[in-house]
Amino acid sequence: MEEKTLSIIKPDGVRKNLIGEVIKRFEENGLIPVAMKMLHLTKKEAEGFYAVHKGKPFYDSLTTFMSSGPIVVMILKGENAIELNRKLMGATNPEEAEEGTIRRQYGDNIEQNIVHGSDAPETAETEIVYFFNSLEVCSRP
Ligand code: CMP
Repeated sequence: MEEKTLSIIKPDGVRKNLIGEVIKRFEENGLIPVAMKMLHLTKKEAEGFYAVHKGKPFYDSLTTFMSSGPIVVMILKGENAIELNRKLMGATNPEEAEEGTIRRQYGDNIEQNIVHGSDAPETAETEIVYFFNSLEVCSRP
């Protein structure tokens, strides 16, 4: 089933000059960017995006980190895009991620793990509209 998912290259990924590397992996594996922008979130904007984690012990540190520098936000389209993106990213904790995945290869720890990806269709929808309006989404074959 063709799906759309939201992907973020986090501030650590941008700082490590991994924008091209991450997008290359997506493109090589059939995840097609249909919308993309670079942003520097405020703390409030990061808190809004991660509102589902409000109250968790890592929420403050996570949102401080996510607002610490520019990020690249993308909508990726493809067959089973949500699951495929999660597979390419690897487990949240880089130490537990499979060999060859983005987080395993480049992540420093469970918070600074290079990329974010939607975890389910409902989340993808909410996350996409958090960052993009309909005019910003291109149609690509
Ligand atoms: P992400 O896929 O962006 O979704 C939520 C983020 O919270 C996650 O990646 C990590 O960056 C962060 N996170 C999740 N669990 C923890 C944790 N136990 N400690 C610190 N950060 C976490």
